[in-house]
Amino acid sequence: MSEPFYITTPIYYVNARPHLGHAYSTIVADVVCRYNLMRDRATFFLTGTDEHGDKIVRAAKNENLSPKVYVDKISGLFKDLCTELRIRYDHFIRTTDPAHIAVVKHILRKIYDSGEIYFSEYEGLYCFGCERFYTDRELVEGRCPDHKTEPEVIKESNYFFKMSRYQGWLIDHINNNPDFIRPERYRNEVLSFLSEPLEDLCISRPKTRLEWGISLPFDDNYVTYVWFDALINYISAIGYPDGELFKKFWPHVNHIVAKDILKPHGIYWPIMLKAAGIPVYKHLNVHGYWNVDQGKMSKSLGNVIEPLQIKNKYGLDAFRFFIMRDMVFGLDSSFSEESMVQRINSDLANDLGNLFSRVLAMAHKYFSGEIPEVDPVLEQELQLGLESNAIKTIDKFESAMENFEFHKALIAIWEFISRMNKYVDTTAPWELAKKKSSIKQLEAVIYNLLEGLRVISGLIYPVMPDTSAAMQKHLGMNPNENYYNLEILKKWGAIKSGTKLPKSVTLFTRVDLKKNVLYSRENASEQILPALKPEISLEEFNNIDLRIATVVHAEVIPRAKKLLKIEVDLGKKRTIVAGISECYAPEDIIGKQVIVVANLKPAKIMGILSKGMLLAAFDDNICAVGTVDKKIKSGNPLN
Ligand code: MSP
Repeated sequence: MSEPFYITTPIYYVNARPHLGHAYSTIVADVVCRYNLMRDRATFFLTGTDEHGDKIVRAAKNENLSPKVYVDKISGLFKDLCTELRIRYDHFIRTTDPAHIAVVKHILRKIYDSGEIYFSEYEGLYCFGCERFYTDRELVEGRCPDHKTEPEVIKESNYFFKMSRYQGWLIDHINNNPDFIRPERYRNEVLSFLSEPLEDLCISRPKTRLEWGISLPFDDNYVTYVWFDALINYISAIGYPDGELFKKFWPHVNHIVAKDILKPHGIYWPIMLKAAGIPVYKHLNVHGYWNVDQGKMSKSLGNVIEPLQIKNKYGLDAFRFFIMRDMVFGLDSSFSEESMVQRINSDLANDLGNLFSRVLAMAHKYFSGEIPEVDPVLEQELQLGLESNAIKTIDKFESAMENFEFHKALIAIWEFISRMNKYVDTTAPWELAKKKSSIKQLEAVIYNLLEGLRVISGLIYPVMPDTSAAMQKHLGMNPNENYYNLEILKKWGAIKSGTKLPKSVTLFTRVDLKKNVLYSRENASEQILPALKPEISLEEFNNIDLRIATVVHAEVIPRAKKLLKIEVDLGKKRTIVAGISECYAPEDIIGKQVIVVANLKPAKIMGILSKGMLLAAFDDNICAVGTVDKKIKSGNPLN
């Protein structure tokens, strides 16, 4: 058995309802955890809520509730969110849990007894929104960079943790462990914080100002600073110091946070662990922010995206797929419902859904829904590289998942799906079915296709667990067996001949963007079609040279909002600039057969000579390139 695997999300403040950002971090943790189950690792998954501090007291007051009643209510919403999003966490921690409080006190006492905490008077600039003191250097034009408010001068006596003593140690640790904080941009950010002298951390708040917190074990007039309390959840939840789970899972931990809380996790937390004599965590994985219309999501702007609304409207797996496919882990992403609908229609309904129903329909039509017995030699002969392609896909998937490059893992799966679709076109089972003499070949082709679908059903499990289960059920796989296991997934030939397949299902239905868009700025209005152009003669039409071209390469043109530079094979290669980059990523278009106006006068667009025009149709925010429904030799004319 390999190394145990422990994954955590931030514990969320209960001062507001959960939104898309919280859902994202939690879904990432769930995806990573499920992936580790595929690797047969022992896993532990922790999420929960952070319930102490000023923010919470103020939010409770606003609702005329006591802090306790208020935190119970909002914490419940976060727990419900997990259920709705099919999050298979092992423990949901609340910082008001007595077991957590006991561990916080234990650690404070330990660090205090070792002389690392001292009492001192302090005057500083305090931001009530962030619940922390700021140095002049950290403020932007005298204001808190997050809340844009001027901090207040507060003078009080407090307890301080000698964080500065550990600065050199932390720099060395980060330098010696390059993937301690990842992606690299955040590691560099932490190293840049650390290039300035670190101040000691104020870890108490006088009860005269705030009562809703954990009392310091060595001075009952103070409560613990929220971050000192909150970070400890990662070890209190698994029974630090003596619990079995702690012994098994610490320090094999991957923390997931967004960039907003990089500093507490990249600096305070490792130093707290070091000072308490506890080994530091293995990886801190930092993702970017979900924005809306390129700006911050915020209650006051009224643009907060509610994950459950999206999930209820489009389905859980479509939602999980979209946020994992659209955001590059580490970078910011702008949420757009329109892009989500496009992904549902193209990647899910078209590519995956159609392949699945097409193959199952053929298995039913040609073999009455029974997985055919195959001649092993023919099966190998007719694979046309499908098996090796599947193995390569699994390898790419694994390496992307290990590096938290979820979008790449999904791209690899979708390349395989497209390979499978091409396999159907190349082998043309409907032609094989016409002759008795090719029935054996037909069996082999259908068997290989079912095998390919089995591999896909396993690979999508972390991101789309329900779809994965639905596919496996309809491929006649026994729900009690672990078909997600990566080793089993790699063994071509696992599907059993003779199994009866249930009637096929539609995995995803296409969505009409114009119907009830939840978050569109202006709901799509009735479309006005352009008037028909004047008639032309056949002769005039024949002057337009329409050709089939295969896209061999595509790339985004920097600074151009909508343009892709595309290289097509038209018998000969040529370059065309097309305004489709809002609907197609380069990898979406490569390999497609498209229709091109070949004799259009070349024109320079963004400094690139475009020779011809690629035909595409536009409908509000969707665009679709013109293509043909069977493979045609590149360069052949259309008339
Ligand atoms: N309670 C602290 C965390 C303590 S962890 C020991 C806290 N809570 S929070 O409710 O503000 O949650 C912040 C986290 O929520 C982010 O780090 C991120 O995981 C998630 N997100 C909140 N807004 C987000 C976006 N707009 N985009 C992506 N994720 C963000 O900080």
